[in-house]
Amino acid sequence: MMNEAHPGYTEGITAVYPGSFDPATNGHLDIIRRGAGAFGRLIVAVGINAGKNPLFSASERVQLLSEACADLPNVAITTFDGLLVKFARQQGAKVILKGLRAVSDFEYEFQMALANRRLAPDVETMFMMTSAEHLYLSSSLVKEIARLQGDISVLVPENVEVRLKERLLVQSVAPLGKSEEPGV
Ligand code: COA
Repeated sequence: MMNEAHPGYTEGITAVYPGSFDPATNGHLDIIRRGAGAFGRLIVAVGINAGKNPLFSASERVQLLSEACADLPNVAITTFDGLLVKFARQQGAKVILKGLRAVSDFEYEFQMALANRRLAPDVETMFMMTSAEHLYLSSSLVKEIARLQGDISVLVPENVEVRLKERLLVQSVAPLGKSEEPGV
């Protein structure tokens, strides 16, 4: 579905959808699929949030996303570090796409959008409302449910479910202080 109301309006536009994606959930996939329909090219950018201690390395997160988005030809998945707006400019992206869930996201996202705009007025931040069924979802919540052996099959793509269970199993049998692979 390529912007039927305004054909061609966003077709030539590249957008960057940044996030930690540790791991990707169906909420992220919802934004990616809709973003892929709205923009000519969508770059899903796996970033590093210094305040987070990830379960999956950056390359694992890219791999999981690549598998889940294999049917979307105009979506590319990559990592980035440093400033998001600098990365967006390097990619020729005019838009940073962000998903908004509850009102609680708003203040943080508003602050980020304003700061990014100050840094790069030529890059526009655009928000997409998360679908109602994903409103409560976050990667941390998914990891917690999986750790407690709850059913995550409706919350994440199948490949993520499999890898997440494997990773948590490895962690649960690893000696204290040793994880299989440190996050990046
Ligand atoms: N569905 C489900 N969950 C969603 C979601 C959606 N549509 N959108 C966001 N989330 C969740 C994520 O899973 C994540 O959950 P978690 O906290 O449990 O891991 C949470 O919302 C926040 O996610 P995210 O959007 O990935 O934000 P982040 O704070 O981890 O930011 C970067 C990551 C890399 C995008 C950000 O730190 C960044 O831009 N860094 C670059 C440096 C820079 O330019 N800084 C800005 C200067 S103004």
